Parts: sequence; structure tokens; C-alpha cells
Amino acid sequence: MAYKAKFKVWRGDAESGELHDFLVEVNEGEVVLDIIHRLQATQAPDLAVRWNCKAGKCGSCSAEVNGRPRLLCMTRMSTFTEDETVTVTPMRTFPVIRDLVTDVSFNYTKAREIPSFTPPADLAPGDYRMQQVDVERSQEFRKCIECFLCQNTCHVVRDHEDNKESFSGPRFLMRVAELEMHPLDTADRVPAAQEANGLGLCNITKCCTEVCPEHIKITDNALIPMKERVADRKYDPIVWLGNKLFRRTTKN
Ligand code: SF4
Ligand code: SF4
Ligand code: FES
Repeated sequence: MAYKAKFKVWRGDAESGELHDFLVEVNEGEVVLDIIHRLQATQAPDLAVRWNCKAGKCGSCSAEVNGRPRLLCMTRMSTFTEDETVTVTPMRTFPVIRDLVTDVSFNYTKAREIPSFTPPADLAPGDYRMQQVDVERSQEFRKCIECFLCQNTCHVVRDHEDNKESFSGPRFLMRVAELEMHPLDTADRVPAAQEANGLGLCNITKCCTEVCPEHIKITDNALIPMKERVADRKYDPIVWLGNKLFRRTTKN
């Protein structure tokens, strides 16, 4: 059944902005992105929003709904009561370009800082068969749609702009973990994870995991295992020596 919903939508640019009030029609089965599109069609034709797939797969429509990091296309209007005011704001951690669109280039910078997959130089195609357990482990991480909601949520950068230089954020620490756990990757990623990527700043609050629309267990399956590897390397001389001598055969 259609009804009129109260919406507050942040409008502005890098200089300034404020919440604008709207009363807008909502129909059964709609998501927040439908309502933003209706606002564009009827009341605010120049309202800026980034989106592509409307299916939770492109990672473009990330924003905050009632203060919670969400994909606008996957947030059903039925999760709100009809008399509730729905507030839509841009992701807080990244600079605003206009309205709901933020500049997420911080993430691309961090992605470029991670050395790419480095298989043994002498390995010919077909020489190696991956164990199923290794395939499944990296498949979980590769479900990432790069929505950057985890990056937006992590308090290390959300509340501390000056940490952006030294912290890659959960999405890219997860990428480091994926490569570190790959049986054919020969790069030693443990020291860089702790130092260049700022793993030590993560205090495993799991906020990143809670907002991930792909339900990737970022903290449990990527960040904590990486922290364990850092600790092993630092405090266990036998593990350290073993890693040095048998690195590719013991990597797991
Ligand atoms: S678990 Fe670590 S990376 Fe994830 S939100 Fe918390 S501090 Fe950030
Ligand atoms: S890990 Fe999850 S929350 Fe983070 S960018 Fe990927 S899909 Fe988005
Ligand atoms: S529009 Fe693609 S994830 Fe929302």
C-alpha cells in the first residue's frame, strides 16, 4: 500500500551542506534507492547519487541511512515504520563531491600500494593443483564488491583523518590476507601488513564485518589470522626460522 514518507536527505558539496526535508511517495516492495530516484524525478532533479546495478553487486550506492552504512539499493523501505523519518547522508569517511556522492579515491590509492600476486617465476601452467580448502578461503574474500562500507565504518579512519596515511583499512588488509594465504604467493606480506598497511591499528572491533553486504567475515577470517601471523613472526623464533627456510611449503 502506498504512503507518504518523511525523508531528510543531505545536500551540499565539499564546502558546505545541510539536510533537506522531503515528503515522498513510497510503494510496496521499494528500496531507499527507489525513493531517491523518485525525488530526482519529482522534486530534486539535480540530486546527486551514484548507482549502477540496483542489485547489490556493483558497490556504487553506498551511503548512510539513519546513520548506518548501507547500500541504498539493498535497504528495503519495509524496514522502517510509515511514520519514521528516513535520513540519508553520504559516507562520512570520504570527502563529499556533491550530495550523496563521495570521493572514494582513498581506496584506490590503498589498493595500488599492495604488491600484486607473485607466483614462483619457474612455475608452468598446470604444474600445481590448489587444495580445495585454499580455493574456498580466497573465494570468500573475492566476494567483495568494493562498496567500501567497511572502510567507511572503521573507526581508525572514520574518526581520525590523520590515520589515513598509515592505515589501509579492512578491505585492503583483507586483500593482503588473501594473498598471504595463497599457497603460490611468494611475497612476504607479514611485515608490510603490520607496518605499511597499519594492521596494528586495528583493534578487532568487528564493525567492518557487521556492515559488509556480502557477509564476509573480515575480522575473523582475514584480520585476526593476519595478526596471528604477525605475532608468530615476532615472538616465536621457530616459526620465524621455519618461515625463512620453508616459506612456500609451510604457507597455509
Ligand atoms: S575490526 Fe579492525 S578494521 Fe574492522 S572496523 Fe574494527 S578496527 Fe577497523
Ligand atoms: S569487504 Fe564487504 S564491506 Fe568491505 S568493500 Fe568488500 S563488500 Fe564492501
Ligand atoms: S546500485 Fe549496485 S550495489 Fe547498489
